[in-house]
Amino acid sequence: NEKIPHDKSLDNSLNLMQEGYLFISNRVERYKSDLFEARLLGQRVICMSGAEAAKLFYDDEKFRRKGAAPKRVQKTLFGENAIQSMDGEAHIHRKLLFMSLMTPTHQKRLAELAKEHWQASISSWEKADNVVLFDEAKRTLCQIACLWAGVPLKENEVTMRADDFIDMVYAFGAVGPQHWKGRRARTRAEEWIRSVIEDVRTGNLKAEPGSALYEMAYYTKADGTQLDMQMAAVELINVLRPIVAIATFITFSALALHEHPEHKQSLHPEKVNNLEMFAQEVRRYYPFGPFLGARVRKSFIWKDCKFKEGMLVLLDMYGTNHDARIWEKPNQFRPDRFIDWKGSLFEFIPQGGGDPAKGHRCPGEGITVEIMKASLDFLANSIDFEVPNQDLNYSLEEMPSLPKSGFVMSNIKRK
Ligand code: HEM
Repeated sequence: NEKIPHDKSLDNSLNLMQEGYLFISNRVERYKSDLFEARLLGQRVICMSGAEAAKLFYDDEKFRRKGAAPKRVQKTLFGENAIQSMDGEAHIHRKLLFMSLMTPTHQKRLAELAKEHWQASISSWEKADNVVLFDEAKRTLCQIACLWAGVPLKENEVTMRADDFIDMVYAFGAVGPQHWKGRRARTRAEEWIRSVIEDVRTGNLKAEPGSALYEMAYYTKADGTQLDMQMAAVELINVLRPIVAIATFITFSALALHEHPEHKQSLHPEKVNNLEMFAQEVRRYYPFGPFLGARVRKSFIWKDCKFKEGMLVLLDMYGTNHDARIWEKPNQFRPDRFIDWKGSLFEFIPQGGGDPAKGHRCPGEGITVEIMKASLDFLANSIDFEVPNQDLNYSLEEMPSLPKSGFVMSNIKRK
């Protein structure tokens, strides 16, 4: 590959850890090229950014996911051999199961549950000196995720289960203790959910047809066989964990509201469009998912670059969401940029790109946006609060990121 820029470092793994969300875009800018080659974790990797690159990345004739996610990510964030690492017919078959659990009816139900739970927390918040929004959000989301899915959750285990889901997410990009915390969290959560699936299959626990618990417990693969207990648990966790992870976007929403109080007035509960635009801009602007990985299925050439079979390719999600060719003044927080936004499969990719039913794009965007809207409406219209002195900085080097303080609120009053 002589025609594309090569990063000269012997190995970029350390730079990746140091530069985090900006690792790819820093080099795309430096080399004035949408793609470049680098060495990461001992292998040659093509990194690419922008809408055209995203379109290429989601061509499943060119890329596969099997073997793309390192074991350390499978042992924490994804779960081993789960939907994220599947390809072809088997992937599409399983994806339809996930899609059937994320329809507008499910989105609405989850948003209503979120609203009820937020409202119910006001009276204890009024009595507290202060409240950490991220901690409240992870507990609330864990409760509503389990309630919605049909998974029994005792009051005294809410914090432990919520922490485990969050630890799996925040193990991504971590080394050392944070990574091991994620592994332990996954082991404990899998054990728990396996026993719940077993209870359903043995008739000890009733599950409603149509619920995530029931559908995962009884899903039959394309070959007519059931998932084994472990796989069913991993896939059920693949819908519970990301719902809890919406706590990150809710915390960034509160930060956005705090940093841009001029928008507060526009977030009237009746003005659903404004709530939606604000939520979309939070998903675009703030750092959550950094990049995605896939392997070249069959060698091909694109933009003079040879993509060799088996090579690892990274797509820059964060950089694409801040690409100045797509977004005017990308580093400004401006919800109104979504006013006449037509939607696009490859330009706005906080949860992946393409068609979720045909590829790997996140099936949970509807759920995410609806829960964010309900939570924003609550923060803007149901309570008054103060934001005491605290460290609200978030790092672009740590993946995933979060405001350091978790967003502390004090003097909370029902409106
Ligand atoms: C996949 C982000 C919420 C379920 C993904 C992908 C990303 C992502 C980047 C990978 C796309 C790809 O590989 O091409 C997020 C973010 C969320 C979120 C930032 C906000 C918290 C959700 C929710 C659910 C969900 C609420 C379900 C309730 C999934 C599943 C996959 C996935 C099952 C795997 C899809 C596949 O491999 O085909 N998500 N997601 N996510 N997400 Fe989400």
